[in-house]
Amino acid sequence: MYRAYISGIGHYLPENIVTNDDLAKIMDTSDEWIVERTGIKQRHYITGNQGPTDLAIPATKDALKMAGLTEDDIDLIIFATSTPDYYAPGSGCLLQEKMGFNTIGALDIRVQCPGFVYGLSIAEQYIKTGTAKHVLLVGAEVQSTALDMTTNGRDTAVIFADGAGAVILSATKEDKGILSTHLHSEGKYAKELWVESPSSKVNPRITPEIIDDGKHLLFMNGREVFKNAVRRFPEVIIEAMDANGLTIDDIDVLVPHQANIRITEFVAKKLGMPMNKIISNIHRVGNTTAASIPIALSEAVSEGKIKKGQNIILAAFGSGFAWASAAIKW
Ligand code: UT7
Repeated sequence: MYRAYISGIGHYLPENIVTNDDLAKIMDTSDEWIVERTGIKQRHYITGNQGPTDLAIPATKDALKMAGLTEDDIDLIIFATSTPDYYAPGSGCLLQEKMGFNTIGALDIRVQCPGFVYGLSIAEQYIKTGTAKHVLLVGAEVQSTALDMTTNGRDTAVIFADGAGAVILSATKEDKGILSTHLHSEGKYAKELWVESPSSKVNPRITPEIIDDGKHLLFMNGREVFKNAVRRFPEVIIEAMDANGLTIDDIDVLVPHQANIRITEFVAKKLGMPMNKIISNIHRVGNTTAASIPIALSEAVSEGKIKKGQNIILAAFGSGFAWASAAIKW
């Protein structure tokens, strides 16, 4: 059996930076409210017609470069996004074409915020069994086009943002890489954080009425998400530690999904983990859903915050509700 380890990583944030003050010009909000309730000071939005595959390209190029590989070395593409370029085909196929990969398998997974961790779990299975040697896993999102940029949608609009992260998972026989992954879902909360339209249950799928009602925009019941997140994050982190006989002291770095700094602080307190072991970039990047963990991880690696031999935990919670964690020996 092989182990899957991250041989390359990269990320990309669109150039257009939108500050809290910029949002306060178009809706009734303030820098003070957003910082106090979420920790966010700014976020990046696309300009023009960029889709998640466009954001994924520079991230993937950097990941390939770090791994010392070319497009020809990749055996499988896994693309985690809740905001695909199109309903069909998946963004993985679009990336295959745009980057000139061989005619390899390309699959999209739509598990929203934990999508990247779910993707790690899938990639690991291919690598462990020797079915694939190098897998490209992308987390990329364009959320800005699904936000209600009026006072009506202010609780959701101030949180979500655009960006992409990519990793190459490679096979090794060394004592490093993914130790375990842990996946969960609870669909009874589906409507607490969802995009209702367009829906294949409705004919036609999109109408002026649907748009007038804002059903094509991201809806979030923030309080319900918060309540469940602060329960599930610690649970799934402890599950990953227990599966590997690790204690809090054994964890060198926690990379949580960047949902809200208050959620991260709550989790840190509940676990008794010092904040300096926890990667946080939400003040600069906002919540980029499936892209959030690979962006934070990529920044941490390039800043030298993650070192060989360290125990890393990744954990995410979001729409579904779905949540997941991964334990990694770097
Ligand atoms: O990836 C996972 C996805 N999401 C999350 O992790 C989000 C989880 N939830 C949250 O982070 C929080 O629930 C929010 C940040 C979304 C909201 O914070 P809150 O402390 O739960 O505020 P609230 O919804 O209870 O609203 C408090 C007040 C309300 O006014 P009233 O009724 O007390 O007069 C809101 O209308 O704050 C108001 N409000 C705002 N005010 C200024 C809501 N959004 C805003 C805003 N600016 N952007």
